Amino acid sequence: MLKGKKVILRPIDIERDLERCAVWINDYEVMQFLGKPFKPITKDQERSLLQKIISNESNVVFAIDTLEGVHIGITSLVHVCHFDGTAITGTFIGNKEYWGKGLGTDAKMVLLWYAFEVLNLRRINSHVLAFNERSVKCQLRCGYKVEGVKKQEVYKNGRYHDLVMMAVFRDDWLPLWREYQGLEEKSAESGRRKGSWVSAMD
Ligand SMILES: CC(C)(COP(=O)(O)OP(=O)(O)OC[C@H]1O[C@@H](n2cnc3c(N)ncnc32)[C@H](O)[C@@H]1OP(=O)(O)O)[C@@H](O)C(=O)NCCC(=O)NCCS
Repeated sequence: MLKGKKVILRPIDIERDLERCAVWINDYEVMQFLGKPFKPITKDQERSLLQKIISNESNVVFAIDTLEGVHIGITSLVHVCHFDGTAITGTFIGNKEYWGKGLGTDAKMVLLWYAFEVLNLRRINSHVLAFNERSVKCQLRCGYKVEGVKKQEVYKNGRYHDLVMMAVFRDDWLPLWREYQGLEEKSAESGRRKGSWVSAMD
């Protein structure tokens, strides 16, 4: 389990999490922001999908819980390539009540800590629909930079949208991570006492 300031990342437990995941994947309001075309699926199909994603060796998938233990979403690294030191991130908070409260940014910072400091990856990619302002801002906050735009790449909501290609290198993320710790943690010592991920950085 990886602990952030606002969320905990833990492994997906299919039996425990299936019900919620099946609701989220069928919620167009959430799924419109993801690159793939929206397709309603049954609970059994969602179970198979989760099994497939989790068992894929080149994916690392986490459930996002609040510190109080409420499961609110999923964050993952896919296409992890140890040869190139790269991966692609994907995150969604399925429980919409929790949008815009800093939990997505926290989850992404912790996921990047895992990617850079545990997996020793070098460069993390993300592809974001241009109209998804919240996601673009979240990635910028975590150190991603815009590397290019695929014009009118994805069809959503009756028209074509640009896809923003973003990436973050460890050297760009690390100062932000340190600053992020400093913003709310008075010192590394207090982080150690709380047993948070702050201690893992020292
Ligand atoms: C994208 C997502 C993970 C972001 O997580 P979040 O917890 O909602 O976002 P945060 O509260 O961390 O805020 C991220 C940024 O968006 C800004 N923001 C929040 N609500 C916003 C809104 N309605 N419109 C525009 N920007 C907004 C925040 O101010 C913050 O920017 P800042 O750091 O420059 O101030 C989450 O909203 C989500 O899961 N959305 C649906 C699925 C999705 O879009 N997934 C990503 C696919 S690439």
